[in-house]
Amino acid sequence: MEKVVLAFSGGLDTSVCVKLLEKKYDYEVITACIDVGQARDEIEKSTSAAEKIGSIKHYTIDARDTFAKEYLFRAIKANAIYEGYALSTALARPLIGKEISELAKKEGAKAIAHGCTGKGNDQFRFEAMIRSLTDCEIIAPIRELNLTRSEEREYANSCGIEIGPDKVYSIDENLWGRAIEGDILEDPMVEPPKDAFTWVKTSDDALDEIQILEIEFKNGVPIAIDNEKLEPDALIEKCAEIAGNHGIGSIDIIEDRIIGLKSREIYEMPAAILLINAHKALEHMTLTRTELKFCEIISSTYSELVYNGLWHDPLREDLDKMIDNMQRRVTGIVKVRLHKGSMRIVGRDSPYSLYQQDIVSFEDKEMDQREMIGMVKNYGIQAAYYNKNYKE
Ligand code: ARG
Repeated sequence: MEKVVLAFSGGLDTSVCVKLLEKKYDYEVITACIDVGQARDEIEKSTSAAEKIGSIKHYTIDARDTFAKEYLFRAIKANAIYEGYALSTALARPLIGKEISELAKKEGAKAIAHGCTGKGNDQFRFEAMIRSLTDCEIIAPIRELNLTRSEEREYANSCGIEIGPDKVYSIDENLWGRAIEGDILEDPMVEPPKDAFTWVKTSDDALDEIQILEIEFKNGVPIAIDNEKLEPDALIEKCAEIAGNHGIGSIDIIEDRIIGLKSREIYEMPAAILLINAHKALEHMTLTRTELKFCEIISSTYSELVYNGLWHDPLREDLDKMIDNMQRRVTGIVKVRLHKGSMRIVGRDSPYSLYQQDIVSFEDKEMDQREMIGMVKNYGIQAAYYNKNYKE
């Protein structure tokens, strides 16, 4: 029998896939759960689920460190946000695709399978990466059989696959965030119930105390929180906990998917929202006006590449080179005030600051104000001419 490697999370889609690959596609199924920072118990559950369902071999691959350093830190430097979404799932998919491809090669598998439906973005992201690294056949059982979630549930019951009551929503979680979809959330007018959230407190439940947090950045990436140096993954986890407890980072948006469908998306992304905002504040102090303007163009192109599953496009690497060059001066400290769902930047400092307090000060006399008279006089000259001569 030929072997297939399945990207496995232990959720409904991928659990159903194990059985379908075995029964309908006649494969021996090897499952692999890639640890990109989802909850520990989810990873443990996926190990026991894989065994129960009948995978011939199960792998758990620790990719947390790589995910934090090579993906999330790049996303911070690029201020990567697509339509209000900080790209948690989108950033993890290419890495999962890469790990699965390497495993398929090692196992001599003929095929690689994933549990994506034919309506979402992840099918593009996985397959684009897998095809750029292997010649394996790609199988997507849920998409190929056009299954609905209720049909999947029925099939799971008929095969004796246990699906817990907590599996109402379709959830994808990693170090950077949690995406919550499906069920009643599909109605865009329904307010997400409390049980949809785990990381971010509502403003009622958020901590009563105000917290002032100091985030230290070096070359565009965070290295310490309140003077405590931390490894990238630990730093991100800590930020998620702090910001989440203050009610920061829940997102409810209508998002444009790759295929053109609009979808209602709920996210919890406390660390991403905190760190990207702090990072932007430091950029405003250290980069020139022209650099900042160009950063916005880079950022939107970068975010689109990531969202659209084109992490492996050479343009992304080209942009990373340019970003890294600019980020050499994005070093310093940002002070953030967190309280009951509000997050405000209240201070920043950098050895590369372009802010000249002595000159900008109202008390300064050195920069002679009279030198501006001529410049101001002719400012907006074209608009003035239009207004006087042609405006109806
Ligand atoms: N809309 C998001 C994206 O495309 C999240 C997808 C989350 N997937 C899930 N199975 N819940 O990146």
